[in-house]
Amino acid sequence: FSSFLTDTHAREHDYLRISLTERCNLRCLYCMPEEGITLSPPATQLTTPEIIYLCQLFVSEGVNKIRLTGGEPTVRKDILELMRRIGGLRSAGLKELALTTNGISLWRKLDAMVEAGLTGVNISLDTLDPFQFQLLTRRQGFDAVVKSINRVQEMNRLGAGVKLKINCVVMRGLNDHQILPFVDMTREQDVEVRFIEYMPFGGNKWSENKMLPYDEMLERIREKYPGVARLRDKRNDTSKTWQVPGFVGRVGFITSMTHNFCGTCNRLRITSDGNLKVCLHGETEVSLRDLLRKDHGGEPMDDEAFDAVRQIELDRRKGLSGSFNGGEGWMSKERHLLETI
Ligand code: GTP
Ligand code: 5AD
Ligand code: SF4
Repeated sequence: FSSFLTDTHAREHDYLRISLTERCNLRCLYCMPEEGITLSPPATQLTTPEIIYLCQLFVSEGVNKIRLTGGEPTVRKDILELMRRIGGLRSAGLKELALTTNGISLWRKLDAMVEAGLTGVNISLDTLDPFQFQLLTRRQGFDAVVKSINRVQEMNRLGAGVKLKINCVVMRGLNDHQILPFVDMTREQDVEVRFIEYMPFGGNKWSENKMLPYDEMLERIREKYPGVARLRDKRNDTSKTWQVPGFVGRVGFITSMTHNFCGTCNRLRITSDGNLKVCLHGETEVSLRDLLRKDHGGEPMDDEAFDAVRQIELDRRKGLSGSFNGGEGWMSKERHLLETI
């Protein structure tokens, strides 16, 4: 491979997120309409070999963490094959292989995933109340998610070393009463519960008063636990981490709406149809899929392709990929979250 990332500033771009699919087996109120979304034609989606090639390519360029996202990544039939192949990139420099999932079918596949090299899992769970789960996700499955969370912890007790985070999108009047129960969960469990500010996305009926800002979430936690203290975040973390003294677990906040964290975001993103983006809110994209599907005389990519990727990197450097708080228009964009996370 020609080294297109290392040429520029590879150390900053060592984290790649790949969305494996737009599909999902839940219908969370804040994410999808009841009827689901219009899916792109299957031919637009990256194939198994294309995903593996791109992972190899980026790891050879200095990426050392890959996170698989969706939609719901586990609905892809080749999920285990992909993880085994990507896990095999350890020898090429990959240090972390992480998954963001709703946890519905994770318990079934977890052992095989750990064997494949899974090092971290972020599980979405917005309520500890089974009835409310059904209301928020419009599907059954609370027990399965809890089973997945328990299985991760069980495997960790056996030494699996899988970093576990729970993602909870907080919506005023819906699940904000769940903040303290989730914090209490960190008393004895080695888990990081992350409260996410509710974000507007194509058609999710967002309103400002439903968004509970970071400061207010923290205030509510402080009322019960005045000693809660900020931990030092790692350089490229996009969340702010806190801990109640004496508790085993931690509490994090993803403050996309009230506190810009673009400055510490080092992620490269590939959408399920193969677009490379450097910013969740940005416009700059290059279709790696089209580059891969062009004939390069037997080679998957050629110098022109690498140049296109390098350019998007440079754009990011110059700040052309759009800034979140200062930028305009991203909220009005009728773009679905699934294409972007
Ligand atoms: P780790 O730090 O590796 O745990 O990943 P993460 O927190 O980015 O991953 P996850 O898939 O769990 O995403 C959690 C939330 O962060 C989602 O709501 C994403 O939409 C949001 N998110 C992830 N990256 C960014 C980003 O760069 N900018 C913004 N605004 N939100 C992001
Ligand atoms: N606002 C904030 N977070 C969201 N997520 C999905 N939709 C939204 C939204 N509108 C979260 C999911 C998942 C993570 C990847 O993104 O809960 O945990
Ligand atoms: Fe599926 Fe995640 Fe969207 Fe819920 S938030 S519908 S689990 S992709």
